[in-house]
Amino acid sequence: MASAIQPGRGDFRSVEGGDSELSKMGNTLITKFHVLMRLSHIYDSKNIALRQFIQESLQVLNTFIEKKGYLSLKIVADDIFLNEQRLRYSIEGFTSFKYLLTQWKKRLIGEVVYKGPLVEDSLRDFIYLLMELEEGREENATLFHQRLMGRGITSIEVNPLEVTEREEGVATLAKEDSREVAKKVFFETIGTVKEVITNIKGKQQADVRRLKRLVRKAVHLVMEDESILLGMTTIKNYDEYTFNHSVNVAIYALAMGRRLGFSRGVLSELGITAMLHDIGKSKIPIEVLNKPAALNEEEWGQMKRHPITGVEIVLNLKQLGEVNPKMVIGIFDHHLKNDLSGYPKLFHKKGVSLFGRIIQIADAYDAMTTPRIYKKVPYRPEQALAIMLKDRDVHFDSILLKMFIGLVGVYPIGSLVLLDTHEMGIIFKTHPDPQWVERPQVILVERGKQGKMEKRLVDLTERNGQNGFKRSIVKILDPNKYHIDIAKYFL
Ligand SMILES: [Fe+2]
Ligand SMILES: [Fe+2]
Repeated sequence: MASAIQPGRGDFRSVEGGDSELSKMGNTLITKFHVLMRLSHIYDSKNIALRQFIQESLQVLNTFIEKKGYLSLKIVADDIFLNEQRLRYSIEGFTSFKYLLTQWKKRLIGEVVYKGPLVEDSLRDFIYLLMELEEGREENATLFHQRLMGRGITSIEVNPLEVTEREEGVATLAKEDSREVAKKVFFETIGTVKEVITNIKGKQQADVRRLKRLVRKAVHLVMEDESILLGMTTIKNYDEYTFNHSVNVAIYALAMGRRLGFSRGVLSELGITAMLHDIGKSKIPIEVLNKPAALNEEEWGQMKRHPITGVEIVLNLKQLGEVNPKMVIGIFDHHLKNDLSGYPKLFHKKGVSLFGRIIQIADAYDAMTTPRIYKKVPYRPEQALAIMLKDRDVHFDSILLKMFIGLVGVYPIGSLVLLDTHEMGIIFKTHPDPQWVERPQVILVERGKQGKMEKRLVDLTERNGQNGFKRSIVKILDPNKYHIDIAKYFL
């Protein structure tokens, strides 16, 4: 899979900046295409509901074309480019992205360019002709183009999917299966957390049954192979911080719980607790949450109340079923710190609960390694771990912290490293045998043909034939300096 290592494009800052409007527009467009393609399966081309949707879609498409002069959608590996800019999908947009990518790839269509505004007939014909293409047929792009011309549609250009993408796609498909499941669970969970939080904000009934179901699936995945979900935590989605953060904290907590030997039942409780640990923040005004400057006293007061508000909310959640005290206390405890110097203030000093201690570590690590409005360049994984180790006695349970470091690795998953072969690599999976902590699996960051980045997995325990190893890690690098979007390697 090629990655978008493009200066000023693949990294977070670019998305926050100038092209976020394009990104939004792109998401709307992709969703429209997704619905149109689906509707074409259900309705014949004369259907009234379809017509209405085509009209709506035309408005969006034509506004874009009028503004930019043309509209091009191009698939490069697993990315969609809108007028040469890589689109970053929103959490809600994930399904639509996936659908468009799969449908176009199956038909070996790689690019479509609309060179002028469309009318109802041309958009309808475009969608139906596209979906009628036989899967896997080499000449599809040419055929498609000829058929469009046959209908008098000359303003749409179609290009085939690039060869290298196809070969890679087929080869990696089989082994990517559980990764696909993990991705689905991950994004669905973020969407569900978002729904729950939004409902609580709007004082509506929040349905947590779905969340419970998803947590059970996540538990299953973590039991099978923790590294897959751990890899997903590198997707630091800036716009969706709260939801993304909740899910990441749950993943770290689950992986820790698993190493502590928790049963599936206890793991599910831990997962839900971690997922809801910041639910009390839903009662804090967004201006306070996202304030770029330091908080004043009153705002701090509001912030410090969120563990208690969280407890109140969880106790009132119907459908959560039996609420185990461990869950409530875990939420209450998560900012207490190891020496009890955190908040809320206690009348009776007692230690932090086990759930609380686990969540403290997961919470701190994820918060530090994620870009925020008030800290746009986050700490790198190894920096965050170093800071946590320094203050360990104040903040954390040091035994659990050691275990956490073992979990994310001496070289944490998602770190960019320099190898003694002068290659760059991204830590993909820690070695299951502790004697090889310094020899994880690494994805090489390589420049392939046409300057595109490609993905190759190597094992650092591989020997070189003499007495040494083929590759060893020299040092950790800063991905921002190299414009590398780490998350791309885990999707
Ligand atoms: Fe919190
Ligand atoms: Fe948190």
